[in-house]
Amino acid sequence: MEFRHLGRSGLMVSEISYGNWITHGSQVEEDAAKECVRAALDEGITTFDTADVYAGTKAEEVLGRALKGVRRESLEIFTKVYWPTGPGPNDRGLSRKHITESIHGSLRRLQTDYVDLYQAHRFDHETPLEETLKTFDDLVRQGKVLYVGVSEWNAEQIAQALKIADEMGFDRLVSNQPQYSMLWRVIEAEVVPLCKNEGVSQIVWSPIAQGVLTGKYLPGQPPPAGSRATDPSGGAFISRMLGDDVLTRVQNLRPIADELGLTMAQLAVAWVLQNPNVASAIIGATRPEQVRDNVKASGVKLDAEVLTRIDDVLGPVVERDPAKTVSPPKRP
Ligand SMILES: NC(=O)c1ccc[n+]([C@@H]2O[C@H](COP(=O)([O-])OP(=O)(O)OC[C@H]3O[C@@H](n4cnc5c(N)ncnc54)[C@H](OP(=O)(O)O)[C@@H]3O)[C@@H](O)[C@H]2O)c1
Repeated sequence: MEFRHLGRSGLMVSEISYGNWITHGSQVEEDAAKECVRAALDEGITTFDTADVYAGTKAEEVLGRALKGVRRESLEIFTKVYWPTGPGPNDRGLSRKHITESIHGSLRRLQTDYVDLYQAHRFDHETPLEETLKTFDDLVRQGKVLYVGVSEWNAEQIAQALKIADEMGFDRLVSNQPQYSMLWRVIEAEVVPLCKNEGVSQIVWSPIAQGVLTGKYLPGQPPPAGSRATDPSGGAFISRMLGDDVLTRVQNLRPIADELGLTMAQLAVAWVLQNPNVASAIIGATRPEQVRDNVKASGVKLDAEVLTRIDDVLGPVVERDPAKTVSPPKRP
């Protein structure tokens, strides 16, 4: 496993990290979740990503139990705040009240005194940015959070936050967590150039497009049994990528992966890691074999000719519009 700096900070993260959205506390039983975490640790993954909202807070509990007994200093634990964790108007968003209450819940569920990275899971249009950033900064001073970042913020929102932090002397954002894969490249036009200049990394989610880039979903055929597309909670998220136009082109990537001696999943993870602004690719898994397969992408170099061939194969199904990075206009 290779390691990269998180933004301009001194923190190193494993360039492949493990995330538990959809899976822990929901799609997979606790034993399978623990086996995946064990496989991740065995393969050299040290960075783990979760969120207060995953599986209605159960995902953090499962991860806390799965990591129990592992030397805390050898782990980087990331979580997030914004999406609803309860029924009330203050159980969501990025107000001082909700952030403060949510971090306490996360620390309790994760069974740790601090998280390495705390991320604003979306931009909250209903809270002054100064209030959010001051609260994050306070949590850093209190030692409950070591670094702060955001997720799915657009370039303008990230720039605004950096300007306020500089003016007010608050801790600066070190990272953004966007969706990024061969199929979804909306950060390339605006977010990445800004972040490169400002020393902010991308920690990217769904690098294999939730399983689509493994090639296991075939055009014109029902999804394989037990896959995310058949899961009651996961199915809705993956469905927009299951059109025959996308699936046919994905099948055409197979000769490229074969020539390189990579699996399709390894090719997809390696592809996001070619972008130097990416600090880590967060992989999900329902089985330990998937973790063991996908981590082999660490350290793989793809040359310019391979990248061009991938672009030619995928052509028009690649999404590049920077306007697709959107947070809800009102709190959910
Ligand atoms: N910030 C955000 O808003 C946000 C949003 C989404 C995710 N995330 C983060 O990103 C993490 C990863 O997201 P993701 O789970 O969508 O990532 P992903 O790595 O693109 O997809 C993971 C899923 O693909 C399938 N898969 C993985 N490896 C495979 C292999 N070798 N062969 C066949 N199938 C394979 C598995 O599902 P099946 O076995 O069920 O098919 C697995 O659960 C999340 O856990 C979370 O930490 C963040």
